[in-house]
Amino acid sequence: MVIECVVRRNESEVELMTDMDLDSAPVVDADLYREVMGHYPTGVAVVTGFDNGEPIGMVVGTFSAVSLDPPMVTFMPAINSRTYMRLAESSAYCINVLAHDQLDLCRRMAVPRDDKFSQVDWSVSAFGAPALAEAVAHIHCTMRSAVPAGDHLIVLCTVHAMEVTRSAPPLLFFQGGYGGFSPRGMTAKGDADLITAIRLADPARRFIGALSEALGCEAAVLVGVNDNELTTAASAYGGDASMQERLGARIPLMPPLGEAYVAGQTTEVVERWLSRAPSQEPEVLARYRSRLRTIAERGVALAMIAPGGEDAYRDLHNAMDEYARNELTPARERAIRSVIQDMSWFFAAGELIDDEVYDVGSVAVPVHNPEGDVSMVVRLTQLPRRVDGRGVKHWIRELKEAASGIENELRGTGGAQQLQDYRAWYTSDY
Ligand SMILES: Cc1cc2nc3c(=O)[nH]c(=O)nc-3n(C[C@H](O)[C@H](O)[C@H](O)COP(=O)(O)O)c2cc1C
Repeated sequence: MVIECVVRRNESEVELMTDMDLDSAPVVDADLYREVMGHYPTGVAVVTGFDNGEPIGMVVGTFSAVSLDPPMVTFMPAINSRTYMRLAESSAYCINVLAHDQLDLCRRMAVPRDDKFSQVDWSVSAFGAPALAEAVAHIHCTMRSAVPAGDHLIVLCTVHAMEVTRSAPPLLFFQGGYGGFSPRGMTAKGDADLITAIRLADPARRFIGALSEALGCEAAVLVGVNDNELTTAASAYGGDASMQERLGARIPLMPPLGEAYVAGQTTEVVERWLSRAPSQEPEVLARYRSRLRTIAERGVALAMIAPGGEDAYRDLHNAMDEYARNELTPARERAIRSVIQDMSWFFAAGELIDDEVYDVGSVAVPVHNPEGDVSMVVRLTQLPRRVDGRGVKHWIRELKEAASGIENELRGTGGAQQLQDYRAWYTSDY
């Protein structure tokens, strides 16, 4: 069947005309329609309202944005939906965008029964509709029009208010099943990468244990898990240091993070790292390059906490902590990356002066594998504050000694094979 569409314009309106006869026999097989449309994923929302004081709601995969000015949204109930027949009488709707962990709630709301709200956490919104707790977003609206479209209605709603209530990935529906959203580039390989990285860090374990005790700080081993990230493969705590970064926490390889790992690596690795810098201004990139050169020459990367920078350092720590968790939406990822990017001033460290006092955020030294490539980084954090240059130099010496001890272990304990296995694994497709 050929559908002819004629678009007629006059000064203020655009009108779509079609010769399609809605009553004509369908030319597309119903299973084919379902199968093809099933290849298009949707979010999952619950439209709620009140019918004679009773909360009612239905799951829709057809919720969509329509117009920004004036703000309008739509959803498409089946013409024979019992719930919609009741919703049509509701003076206000709340459209609740479900989160990835609200599958039970979704199932409860999708069944044709009357007591859907009996074990559900909800409250009455300021606009007079039931708002579901823990939803990602609430869109408060009223019905503007309902246009029949075959076996469904296109319900157009005017939006009066809307808010994101929880920064969590949404629940998705695809090919008849439910799932979540994993931003590309943010997905780690799961347990396998961690286990391999932890195995690789084994020879370093006793060295970081001794370091953390002797210096009263946290000592950790960071191993590259992919082109984008390092992971904390082992950590030890001495003095007042406590676990702030869980094992397997992922650290994005983006300027200024991961300097000790990247400095001294191939041009390709360095360029990839630089390409993730927020600003691609030549002078900013030149600054990073010069910093990498200094780190490669000195064999250590120092990050200072600037005076009064405690809060900002905490922000950085919190951002990293959130990055390390898996439940990251692309919007949060961007926000976190921007916090990390703003931290570059911490990393501006010049020559250490013996009698000057420093607040050091971290000291990191690369560890080379038997082939001479950087395979991991040993890092000290939660260090004592206000330590003079002599003290900081002592930490660096200790850390370098530990790094060369680990390098010896790697040469002697089959570390080369471990590394090779690990490399083969993480460069393989998945
Ligand atoms: C993921 C998903 C998406 C759905 N989308 C729609 C939809 O867009 N329109 C609709 O009428 N029903 C949709 N449903 C079905 C209704 O939510 C549900 O079956 C219905 O509310 C219960 O029947 P009743 O309305 O007759 O009580 C969907 C169900 C699920 C699980």
